[in-house]
Amino acid sequence: MPRIERLPEPHVYPAYGIYLLQSQHRLVRRLKRLYEPSVHGHKTWGSSFLLMDYLEHEPMNKKASVMEIGCGWGPAAIFCAKKFDAKVTGVDMDPDVFPFMEVLAALNDVDVASLVSKYEDLTSKQLTGQKLLIGSDICFWDKLVKPLSKLITRALKSGVERVIITDPGRPTFYELADLCSKKHDVSLQEWFAVQPNHFTGEVLEIRARKEKKEED
Ligand SMILES: C[S@@+](CC[C@H](N)C(=O)[O-])C[C@H]1O[C@@H](n2cnc3c(N)ncnc32)[C@H](O)[C@@H]1O
Repeated sequence: MPRIERLPEPHVYPAYGIYLLQSQHRLVRRLKRLYEPSVHGHKTWGSSFLLMDYLEHEPMNKKASVMEIGCGWGPAAIFCAKKFDAKVTGVDMDPDVFPFMEVLAALNDVDVASLVSKYEDLTSKQLTGQKLLIGSDICFWDKLVKPLSKLITRALKSGVERVIITDPGRPTFYELADLCSKKHDVSLQEWFAVQPNHFTGEVLEIRARKEKKEED
């Protein structure tokens, strides 16, 4: 059994080696007076714990560059910075999510760069140099499926080695998995996280399809 950890104050909770804040935490309440995330980026979503758990089993290289798209409060990005010493960038179309990400980064003593961008506006130049592209619960509307599919193709063409997306199992996410499987190597697995609570969902990992060697 893990050792008992005394938490520094109420409404702080640990998961996968990082600390997170509940909505009732005084800093979150104060930030919510000033910033209003408007595209569902108003909390840490359960799918981010699937990403953390998956990366504990299928780890990334230490110190690699990681981009979290649709980052919201950036829990998975902060996990990568803490656990793998990764160079992380949180990307979101909603600038109001970033103050929350900054506070969580400070709480965990890591640095996270931020970039305001829609999926469709992320360029090959911005993607070049990233080893891993991650996202949790980012494909929740029909209109997000195609921009995400195109972004994934752009990322793999720009040299991104792995794209990992987690989801509670929305129809739009399966549509995205289906589109990706037509062009790339795809693994879709049911997964569960055990921290901070039991949470079940899906993990989609996408890699560039290996070119078949020509017959002699
Ligand atoms: C359900 S929240 C998930 C946040 C975070 N990944 C998590 O798991 O806690 C979805 C996030 O995607 C962002 N988002 C939605 N559509 C987007 C788009 N087209 N481009 C970039 N970000 C987008 C939202 O602003 C929001 O922060």
